[in-house]
Amino acid sequence: MKLLVIGSGGREHAIAKKFTESSLVETVYCAKGNIGMKKDGIQLVDIAENDHQALIHFAKSEKIAWTFIGPEIALFEGLVDAFDKVGLKVFGPNKKAADLECSKQFAKDLMKKYAIPTAAYEIFEDYHAALAYVEEQGVPIVIKADGLAAGKGVVVAMTLMEATNALSEMLLKGKFAAGKPKVVIEEYLEGEEFSLFALVNGTKYYYTGVAQDHKRAYDGDKGPNTGGMGAYSPVPQVSDALIQEVLETVIKPTVNAMVAEARPFKGVIYAGLMMTKKGLRVIEFNARFGDPETQVILNQLDSDLAQVIDDILNGKDPVIKLHTDRYTLGVVVAAEGYPEKTITDIPLPQMNIAGSGCTIYHAGMKQGKSCLISDGGRIFFVAAQGSTLKEAQDKAYHYLTNNPIAHTFYRFDIGEQAIQFTK
Ligand code: AMP
Ligand code: GLY
Repeated sequence: MKLLVIGSGGREHAIAKKFTESSLVETVYCAKGNIGMKKDGIQLVDIAENDHQALIHFAKSEKIAWTFIGPEIALFEGLVDAFDKVGLKVFGPNKKAADLECSKQFAKDLMKKYAIPTAAYEIFEDYHAALAYVEEQGVPIVIKADGLAAGKGVVVAMTLMEATNALSEMLLKGKFAAGKPKVVIEEYLEGEEFSLFALVNGTKYYYTGVAQDHKRAYDGDKGPNTGGMGAYSPVPQVSDALIQEVLETVIKPTVNAMVAEARPFKGVIYAGLMMTKKGLRVIEFNARFGDPETQVILNQLDSDLAQVIDDILNGKDPVIKLHTDRYTLGVVVAAEGYPEKTITDIPLPQMNIAGSGCTIYHAGMKQGKSCLISDGGRIFFVAAQGSTLKEAQDKAYHYLTNNPIAHTFYRFDIGEQAIQFTK
């Protein structure tokens, strides 16, 4: 069969590459994809994510068996609804179901209604009322813009000044708001953060792994929040019992709640979680795979992903096996200045990974005059496997140390806390 992947980052590279490894699959197309994907035999399709009619035309004329959607923006813009309407098979939630990610208010209200554990919260549209609430609650406190903000609409305010500034930016200046600005103000949680992924169709859900991302730009979790600077899977701090607890107390009630609310979910549920002293809490839901978590999760998947998705779309229970004898760890290489003042057009050398034990997932890059050049903040991701997390980490950093690229940077401490934990 022929498959289409929507998106253009490292996440989509990992998904499309995994599909190319399936004996069921003849061709994998990616719209728009990125130039680095070509070396893995992925066919690039020059159609924008928001050009629904052109994508539908392509899927019909190429007889695409089904389409897999990577990024949230396409879900938010209703690409699944457009495909559903014309009877094209697609793996991803429709707009109403994607509210689980796209509207923080919807997600919080759903969790409250169905007793899914999450931080206490209040919702505000009025700046003065929000400020009064923050003053009453005190700091630290967390302020989140309602709506999609590419992971950047969250301020963990340690001081009243930071909280006031965040409220002013979000409610008075409308930063991150598509319509009327709104914020969710949340109790500050402390503990071990991790992400759990499940493939979902209605009330059925299938566990696909846990990962830990590193969201801050610099070592020691310093600097601004980014889309993610590195990840590893599985997470030694997360026991099998904790995974079961997440499935029973978070994923199961959530998929049932979505059905009860007439918003049945089909696609990936990515639960952002924190294990606090008071117990497990959901930080957020996403309605898609994470980037860069996917690049490590799919390396741990010991099943044919195309077969798995095909089974789910056909109402069958898929067989999902995860490698239990190894870890995958990966590091994002970003352009200088990312995420605030990203420089672009950095010349990129030929990457030679032969013998390094690493896999490269390409993201922000394009063809320049004489070589590939950077095109975005996160340029590529170097992933490695090992029988221990340390071995995987050593391999990834060995490659990075020996292949420096001017005007780029990466974190030196991906997985470090977990390695210390296992000592
Ligand atoms: P989100 O976009 O909701 O995942 O938030 C981005 C990051 O902010 C998370 O990965 C957490 O590290 C942090 N965060 C979000 N909500 C809270 C909270 N209630 N307490 C503490 N940290 C939080
Ligand atoms: N890595 C965080 C995300 O994909 O939202």
